[in-house]
Amino acid sequence: MQQNLPHQDHYFQLAVEMADLAHAPYSSFPVGCVILDEGGQPHTGCNVENASLGLTMCAERVATGNAISSGARRFDTIIVASPDAVSPCGACRQVLAEFSHDQTMVFAVDLNGQRKTGHLLSELLPNQFKLQS
Ligand code: THU
Repeated sequence: MQQNLPHQDHYFQLAVEMADLAHAPYSSFPVGCVILDEGGQPHTGCNVENASLGLTMCAERVATGNAISSGARRFDTIIVASPDAVSPCGACRQVLAEFSHDQTMVFAVDLNGQRKTGHLLSELLPNQFKLQS
């Protein structure tokens, strides 16, 4: 764990609860996500699968949509809860990077709230593609 998170147990638990809301009948792999914006406000998501499979939305991207549509623009902390405490997939790393900074942390936790890991997003996705606008 590289950084302490205020109220971290609460938000880890919230990510686990979000996984309970997942629509994952095809993979049976529920994922929950909590994004804390720079003001400390939480934004949540879960994976939403589709019978087409390819149209499945990952929990991190659902949470990103909820954050952005709530007015958030800068992410400080991302927590992902899943059966295997997985790290965000490559596509999600790129989407999260759009709204993240050098110190943005990504925590992973299993559905018992255990096996916590923490990394900088910049470690998980080095040399990020961003347009200089
Ligand atoms: N999934 C996520 O929600 N986030 C990830 O970072 C990796 C994968 C979901 C997609 C699919 O519903 C299930 O996990 C199995 O791949």
